Amino acid sequence: MSETATAPAAAKAHSKYTRNQPYTSRVLVNRRMTGPESEKETIHIELELEEGMTYTPGDAVGINPTNREEQVAENLAALGFNGTERVLDHYKVEISLHEALTTRLGIGKLARGAVNQYAKLFGENVPADLKALLGQENKLLAEEYVWGREFVDLVKQFPGAVQNPQELFNVLQRLTPRMYSIASSQAAHPDQVHTTVRVIRYHAHGADRQGVCSGHLGERAPEGATMPIFLHENNAFRLPEDTNAPVIMIGPGTGIAPFRAFLEHRQTLGQKGKNWLIFGEQRRVSDFLYEDQWNGMLADGTLTKLDTAFSRDQGKKVYVQDRMSENAAELYKWLQEGAYFYVCGDASRMAKDVETALLDAIANGSGQTPEHAQEYLNDMKKAKRYQRDVY
Ligand SMILES: Cc1cc2nc3c(=O)[nH]c(=O)nc-3n(C[C@H](O)[C@H](O)[C@H](O)COP(=O)(O)OP(=O)(O)OC[C@H]3O[C@@H](n4cnc5c(N)ncnc54)[C@H](O)[C@@H]3O)c2cc1C
Ligand SMILES: NC(=O)c1ccc[n+]([C@@H]2O[C@H](COP(=O)([O-])OP(=O)(O)OC[C@H]3O[C@@H](n4cnc5c(N)ncnc54)[C@H](OP(=O)(O)O)[C@@H]3O)[C@@H](O)[C@H]2O)c1
Repeated sequence: MSETATAPAAAKAHSKYTRNQPYTSRVLVNRRMTGPESEKETIHIELELEEGMTYTPGDAVGINPTNREEQVAENLAALGFNGTERVLDHYKVEISLHEALTTRLGIGKLARGAVNQYAKLFGENVPADLKALLGQENKLLAEEYVWGREFVDLVKQFPGAVQNPQELFNVLQRLTPRMYSIASSQAAHPDQVHTTVRVIRYHAHGADRQGVCSGHLGERAPEGATMPIFLHENNAFRLPEDTNAPVIMIGPGTGIAPFRAFLEHRQTLGQKGKNWLIFGEQRRVSDFLYEDQWNGMLADGTLTKLDTAFSRDQGKKVYVQDRMSENAAELYKWLQEGAYFYVCGDASRMAKDVETALLDAIANGSGQTPEHAQEYLNDMKKAKRYQRDVY
């Protein structure tokens, strides 16, 4: 989640609904944004809100997914149950095993903890190949084993452990909601919340797999369907309180989402601060998310500057940080004018590379040392002018 904190000027994410008592929202729009030739499937989702549910740009929406029916059936078959067996859920409410596997238990990607708990059910008779995955000394091997596997793969390989379906609640994690950065402003869409979701699909260990929640949204949440949702406040990622302050937004891939919210907000409320967006994806022709909307915002002056980095449109990869480097002098000028700098998207590599490019731009722009650039950045952090929402 975000790493800096700032007090929001306006409303908070307010509603009586929570992750345990979510609101049943209706899907108003579910539209694929990436072209057919894209390597990605990124979708735009619009969900209906009840009156009184409010959020601020920078917040996230939590979505409670369910497991796929075929996946549930495959698990039941591998476990040797029919689904009508009765179990107590996490709140000791009696439900069917089918219901538990559909809405309560995480049967998607396999966790190392589930392997350890599952092995315990064998008592003294743990199969040798399973034993080889247990304990701290076999951590690396176990991590390799779980990668790309689901719970059903474990059950199929080492059958017969689960005698009583209630035991599954000790083995499997709860099916948890997934968070998505909100991609809309309530100033523009009072009764709606929008998100930008990359549908995760991959082939591993001889089967087609998909992410639990993104797969649900990608395949089983057509317009008119319902999804349990809740709003999640994130005070660490906020537009400046000074509506005239310039804003620089770095949002490759789905990292673009909160910046659509920021820009819609400033556009709808007629806020005058300058806005500079740097977006990156693989190919312009198929992956330019929200292109028409950005063009409209360039035309009406909401967007002061738009730079794009389409990494695979030429021989050599070009990333958002390359656009920052090319524009380093102007970037530093904006910072000197008091610009707020935001980053959203991939935490593993992009966020670090962008920070390096930012430090370089500050050092070059000021003509001073890297140490000075680091101090400058620290001061920006303290003033809440450097905010990240990376995942
Ligand atoms: C604050 C926050 C904001 C976020 N905002 C967004 C957003 O705006 N848009 C967005 O799309 N996501 C966003 N995410 C990520 C989102 O919450 C989910 O984590 C994401 O959609 C995956 O969830 P899932 O249920 O589809 O996949 P899961 O069932 O949780 O599975 C995902 C896992 O699958 C495994 N996996 C993926 N690819 C492969 C592969 N090729 N081989 C083997 N294993 C693989 C990985 O272990 C991966 O972690 C955000 C996360 C946070 C914390
Ligand atoms: N938790 C999850 O399971 C989950 C689900 C959805 C998204 N995510 C994460 O969310 C982030 C966004 O995913 P996404 O598919 O929308 O976009 P993405 O993977 O971040 O890709 C967007 C663009 O960034 C480029 N890129 C790759 N490495 C980069 C780097 N070091 N610095 C700057 N740009 C770089 C990509 O180029 P190339 O591809 O050409 O290298 C592509 O052009 C990723 O971290 C993704 O893993 C995680």
